Amino acid sequence: MQPLFETRECRKGRVAYSLFAGTIMAAICAIWLYRIQELMSGQGGRSWACIGMFMAELWFSFYWIISQPVRFKVCRHSTFKERLLTREDKLPGVDIFVCTADPVMEPPIMVINTVLSAMSFNYPPDKLSVYLSDDGGSQFTFYALLEASNFSKHCLPFCNKFIVDQPRNPEAYFAQVINGNADHLSQELLDIKKKYEDMKNRIESAITKGSISKEIRDEHDGFSEWNDQVTKQNHQSIVQIIIDGRGTNAAEKEGCDQLPTLVYMAREKRPGWPHNFKAGAMNSLIRVSSEIDNGSIILNLDCDMFANNADSIQEALCFFMHEKSGHEIAFVQHPQIFYNTTPNDLYSNNMHVIVQVEFAGTGSYDAAMYCGTNCFHRRESLSGRKYLKDYRWNSDIEAKKKAGKTSQELEEASKVLANCSYEKDTQWGTQMGLIYGFAVEDVVTGLTIQCRGWKSVFYNPKRAAFLGMAPTT
Ligand SMILES: *[C@@H]1O[C@H](CO)[C@@H](O)[C@H](O)[C@H]1NC(C)=O
Ligand SMILES: *[C@@H]1O[C@H](CO)[C@@H](O)[C@H](O)[C@H]1NC(C)=O
Ligand SMILES: *[C@@H]1O[C@H](CO)[C@@H](O)[C@H](O)[C@H]1NC(C)=O
Repeated sequence: MQPLFETRECRKGRVAYSLFAGTIMAAICAIWLYRIQELMSGQGGRSWACIGMFMAELWFSFYWIISQPVRFKVCRHSTFKERLLTREDKLPGVDIFVCTADPVMEPPIMVINTVLSAMSFNYPPDKLSVYLSDDGGSQFTFYALLEASNFSKHCLPFCNKFIVDQPRNPEAYFAQVINGNADHLSQELLDIKKKYEDMKNRIESAITKGSISKEIRDEHDGFSEWNDQVTKQNHQSIVQIIIDGRGTNAAEKEGCDQLPTLVYMAREKRPGWPHNFKAGAMNSLIRVSSEIDNGSIILNLDCDMFANNADSIQEALCFFMHEKSGHEIAFVQHPQIFYNTTPNDLYSNNMHVIVQVEFAGTGSYDAAMYCGTNCFHRRESLSGRKYLKDYRWNSDIEAKKKAGKTSQELEEASKVLANCSYEKDTQWGTQMGLIYGFAVEDVVTGLTIQCRGWKSVFYNPKRAAFLGMAPTT
């Protein structure tokens, strides 16, 4: 079979870089010589200031020297996603995790824009599931997600029909298309825009009012989870399957296209129990999703992102499904690109050197850094399993998807997994899932996985895959 991706080493500019690196190395040696001479001569050279300076210079030299192997061996991957078409029946299930932590700092309308863009990937909807983890435990986020599930019945068919190359996120799409060429707006576009704005107004007015009307609360049983006792820091686990994508779902019965599964989760939080921030949410999501449809590939996104390329899942699968080495790959990390940077990216939020040189260079060594978001994981690598030589892709594990269970049964079974006491005296956070107890838990998790023998890929596609908001200060 033809390979699904290829890797090319970039040789452009290497001679110039060698010259440049040579001058720095010479300068480092000159500094060392100078310091050593100073220390030996004893003329005031043995002061603590001098020793401190020397230590700092040694540290810098060490850092600089270990960063050279990646700078000299930059490589680029390119994928052939059309070749996946022949393996269409083998496509694995993909679970997309979106994490939000606070309904005020991360407004529900922004969160559902991310969710809608995740639902509209070019991928068979019966193999796609989107999970929203709401650490804010907010009924407004839940309500917004219900609205989004209604809106997706209109917006997904629209995306499939009309959107080719634009971002599949309503807010970004309308801004781009409508500012672009206002005279070519079709009736379909105007209709969908109107529906979007109505939805946005309903969500925002509910938030301004601070309550959700009784009619809406009565319509969905899920609201019964919220009572006066529920606060952000103290509530039971809530799992609601809003769209059940298995087999024929509600949308199909209404004559719409099939939709991906959509799940709302707020894990249990109790005073005195550590919640472990985003890593804790991710680990709950890993367990809850394994109960619901156990997709073998997991993509995690922040709640302020959108997909800029609807084929991103296929492109990532080109690595995981590669005949020869795909089964050894644990995760595929995409770069973080931001849409709200200042003109000319004055603060260098997009980190061009790191992304295009250093991360691309680690790829030559079959390694990548897990940056906490924009990353496709193989579920098994997160569940603590070591990479096995005789391991082969096994889609049967998913095939026996809990076909027999109803949504309610799945919800009840999942709630237990999102309990705050579930991880007590287990290997979660040490051996399984994301590792706890570090400021850079994502990086440590990525390193741990690679220490277990898995490989990983940093993939910088030609067209940015995910755009997020830059941290603002
Ligand atoms: C979703 O749509 C149904 C009808 O299609 C409607 O009855 C319901 O109120 C809507 N839900 C929300 C939360 O807007
Ligand atoms: C989920 O899939 C993984 C492999 O990806 C498998 O090891 C695990 O047993 C499955 N879990 C369930 C609950 O089926
Ligand atoms: C979840 O934990 C709470 C204690 O915080 C316990 O009362 C409850 O029974 C647990 N739920 C399940 C389903 O295990």
